[in-house]
Amino acid sequence: MTDIDADAELEGAIAEAEQASRELFDRVLEVELTDGASLAARLAARPAEARTIEAELRRKNAQFVGPSGLLTEKLRLIPKVSKDRRRELGQRANGLKQAIEERFNAALALLARAEREAELTGPAIDPTLPGRGVRKGRLHPLTRTMHEVLDVFVALGFDVEEAPEIDLAAHNFDMLGFPPDHPATDMQDSFFVQRDPDVVLRTHTTTVQVHQMRTRKPPLAVVCPGAVYRRDDDATHSPMFAQIDGFAVDEGLTLAHLKGVLTAFVQRLFGDEVPTRLRPSYFPFVEPGAELDMGCVFCKPWQPGNEERTRACRVCKSTGWMEILGCGMIHPVVFERCGVDASRYTGFAFGMGIDRISMLRHGIGNIRLIYENDARFLGSL
Ligand code: DAH
Repeated sequence: MTDIDADAELEGAIAEAEQASRELFDRVLEVELTDGASLAARLAARPAEARTIEAELRRKNAQFVGPSGLLTEKLRLIPKVSKDRRRELGQRANGLKQAIEERFNAALALLARAEREAELTGPAIDPTLPGRGVRKGRLHPLTRTMHEVLDVFVALGFDVEEAPEIDLAAHNFDMLGFPPDHPATDMQDSFFVQRDPDVVLRTHTTTVQVHQMRTRKPPLAVVCPGAVYRRDDDATHSPMFAQIDGFAVDEGLTLAHLKGVLTAFVQRLFGDEVPTRLRPSYFPFVEPGAELDMGCVFCKPWQPGNEERTRACRVCKSTGWMEILGCGMIHPVVFERCGVDASRYTGFAFGMGIDRISMLRHGIGNIRLIYENDARFLGSL
């Protein structure tokens, strides 16, 4: 490149930068001076425009005087510029760089001032407009149901205790009287974590009996909430779900105490008028064992005149009853294996799925809705 070329190139760059930068920066200034409507008024109407103007100013500034801007680049030609013009062109280019910088800063300051002005003089805030609601979170319906259930039992004098979610199969099955070949002890039905010693994700919270009886002395009255796991997955079963188990051990406890406690529980949670009944059933850790049914809270058959509703009720399948938990008198074999004197003490126990209670409380038909955590659904409960 000859000296002449370098001279011309730098000179051209200076001219281009001078022209373009003046146009750009003046545009902002001009709006205020000549537009009639000031920049502030414009921004008052369209506040978002301030950001567009600012971005444009920054882009243009960088285009000329940024690290790889036109003037910055062309100034590198200085050593090649002919000696007699070097000083003059260098001064002009640097002077222009400075001028652009100043204009740029002035334009930014003007913009900021206009923005403030726009805020102060723009349309006043209308305090009668409805506020923009902040969506408030709340407890999951399962958690709420769990708290409600626990509250009832705490009021009846039960302690709340926890038990491990990962436990020995011995605690989960053997000590609760499950025979070794019981289907629940099969790989098909339970999640085994380890073999020999067998470790499982507990399949029920009934394990709390083992942990409590082995470490505390009767009288005992305990409820235990928590997650349990089974290899089940359909409209009414989820592989992980929540249960609450409860039991009491003392001298002289009978089935009447069991029925009294469970009836009080149902009536506090669902209403004093709701009837209950015990129906014989089998669980390895109770004798006798039973299911507790409560009157269907959807068709309310105990109220006169609801016969037609009950006949059409799909929730209770027209029976008027809903099964809500398993229960019974603690089997002597459990006492024996947990070191409680079965000749002195008796006890009762019960266990329920919290999701089931929650579904009944809220009229939910599919268990997955509870665990999918779609906020639109949960918010509607
Ligand atoms: N553990 C049983 C289950 O998961 C429920 C159950 C039934 C718990 C009877 C009890 C009981 O404590 O006495 O299906």
